[in-house]
Amino acid sequence: MKRELALEFARVTEVAALAAYKWIGKGDKNAADGAAVNAMRIMLNKILIEGEIVIGEGEIDEAPMLYIGEKVGKYFDKNLKEEERIFCTPVDIAVDPIDGTKMTAKGQDNAVAVLAVGQKGSFLKAPDMYMEKLVVGQGAANGIIDLDKPLLENINNISRAIKKDIKDMTIGILDKPRHEEIIKDLQKIGMKVFAFPDGDVAASVLCGIVDSDVDMMYGIGGAPEGVISAAAIRALGGDMQARLKLRNEVKGVSIENNKISAFERARCEKLGLNVGDILKLDDLAKDDEILFSITGITRGDLVDGVKRRGAIGRTQSLVIRGKSKTIRYINSVHNLDFKDEGLGELLK
Ligand code: FBP
Repeated sequence: MKRELALEFARVTEVAALAAYKWIGKGDKNAADGAAVNAMRIMLNKILIEGEIVIGEGEIDEAPMLYIGEKVGKYFDKNLKEEERIFCTPVDIAVDPIDGTKMTAKGQDNAVAVLAVGQKGSFLKAPDMYMEKLVVGQGAANGIIDLDKPLLENINNISRAIKKDIKDMTIGILDKPRHEEIIKDLQKIGMKVFAFPDGDVAASVLCGIVDSDVDMMYGIGGAPEGVISAAAIRALGGDMQARLKLRNEVKGVSIENNKISAFERARCEKLGLNVGDILKLDDLAKDDEILFSITGITRGDLVDGVKRRGAIGRTQSLVIRGKSKTIRYINSVHNLDFKDEGLGELLK
């Protein structure tokens, strides 16, 4: 994939974050998400790509935009000249216009706009269901982790691999009722627990960043977020294992949850996936030719959030190129009076 595309995709998450900014703390997560989705889609359609959304906002009947299977990119512009069409790179795209919609609505830290781009067939086409995830950075990437083993055994093995005492290690985990007991157990063995309310993509990426304190991430979150995280972790040289989980395994048995679980199982079967099977990094993100871009919406541990004064907006993004494993922090200053690009009121 062309190197220049990295900047094009960074612009996509930048604009999604800028569009979400005005909804920070306003208590309306759907409005925030809608604005980011809209902005992301407009920008994706400006890039010289023949793109397909493989991880998106849901199926076509439940998501009007950036749905799974949606075609995006200049290639699909009817006005594009035939001689320009050949310059459009075919890509698969995994998007999460806001990871942390609730955090945005509540003005909490670490909400981000994120996407991963790969060659066709790079990403697992995971259904929108739960996924158990174990993520580590480079130091523990050589076959150290095994989701079939108890978490404590994994922690011991990681501790040995990264030569860090368990008491000095930090583990990221979603602060959800389903993890309450695990969090207590981790604190009992003396680990530092970074329990975040939502948004496990940023927490997963933190495991692969050299200057971060987070050594590992564990827990059950969304499968789409899992695939996006895998793309970043692969590009960063870390490791990840995962396992798809049915709703009734995660949220308890009820008529509603059983119905959803039956649907999820059928969806998995159709995609040739077995619920409960271990998914390795190669299954989640198959290729090194990956571009990953994440821009902060609210203040964050990985990337800073959007700042605005009048028409001037600042964004911070982290852009990773899998092929060279280069990480770029892009600090941009946008003059929103001049930035139209068909975004209209979205950025005002
Ligand atoms: P959204 O902001 O896209 O809703 O996702 C937030 C999130 O916390 C993800 O980061 C995480 O993977 C998933 O939701 C966890 O799901 P749940 O909130 O149902 O426990």
